[in-house]
Amino acid sequence: MVADSLVRYLEETDSTNRVALELAGQNAPAGSLVVAARQTAGRGRLGKVWLSPPGRGLYFSLLLRPELPWADLPKITLAAGVGVCRAVEGITALAPRLKWPNDVLLADRKFCGILTETGPVVGADVPVVVIGVGMNVSSRSADFPVELRSRVTSLGIESGIDYDLDDVLAAVVPEIKAAVAALERGGFAGILAEWRQLDGTLGRELDWLAADGRPVRGISLGPDDEGVLRIRDRDGHIHAVLSGDLSLAGTVRQ
Ligand code: BTN
Repeated sequence: MVADSLVRYLEETDSTNRVALELAGQNAPAGSLVVAARQTAGRGRLGKVWLSPPGRGLYFSLLLRPELPWADLPKITLAAGVGVCRAVEGITALAPRLKWPNDVLLADRKFCGILTETGPVVGADVPVVVIGVGMNVSSRSADFPVELRSRVTSLGIESGIDYDLDDVLAAVVPEIKAAVAALERGGFAGILAEWRQLDGTLGRELDWLAADGRPVRGISLGPDDEGVLRIRDRDGHIHAVLSGDLSLAGTVRQ
């Protein structure tokens, strides 16, 4: 028997991803959701902080136990990005775009970030995955630190409409679940095809700071058939981007 998933709403926590991983360690069922009104130490990719003031942003973590080999787990972030875009397209007239691996953009500015983390394996050999999503919903420019303002945005800034946080949550979570379920059914090719349609940086110049600290500037060739981003530098060398910091050339990533 599969236990009912749980939903935990918190007024304040350090990080919904941390709480969800803790719940995973206590054997919380797949589908469990942790939502916070504000986070004091929201986690971003590469050890960055996700600013999480109350009221205008959505911060949640979805716990899943996907029937996927460990090697396929990075594909979950790509699937989650597709899910976010489907949901935003469904409830707004906006056209979100993806920036590999985990950013969702509007007008080239980031309004949503996804952080997928894996948790402890309890019993069976099924991975525990926490998909953390931070989204600027009705944030105003003044809500962001000055140094970020030119690179970030929100649904509200782009549409002129203040969407209700609960409505956005109710749209996004099922789309992420559906996209990950498609992966489990062996549907990565379909997810990747959709991701490529939504690719906001294909053919554009990217700055990549490789994990060893080497800076690379090159044209994005988009993700390969395994979802690994490729960049062609000026010498024609093609780099496989497995991790590290990535930004549109001339900008600095949030
Ligand atoms: C990124 O763009 O670097 C990823 C940001 C992910 C932020 C979300 S907010 C909810 C969840 N809990 C966290 O601590 N982080 C994610």
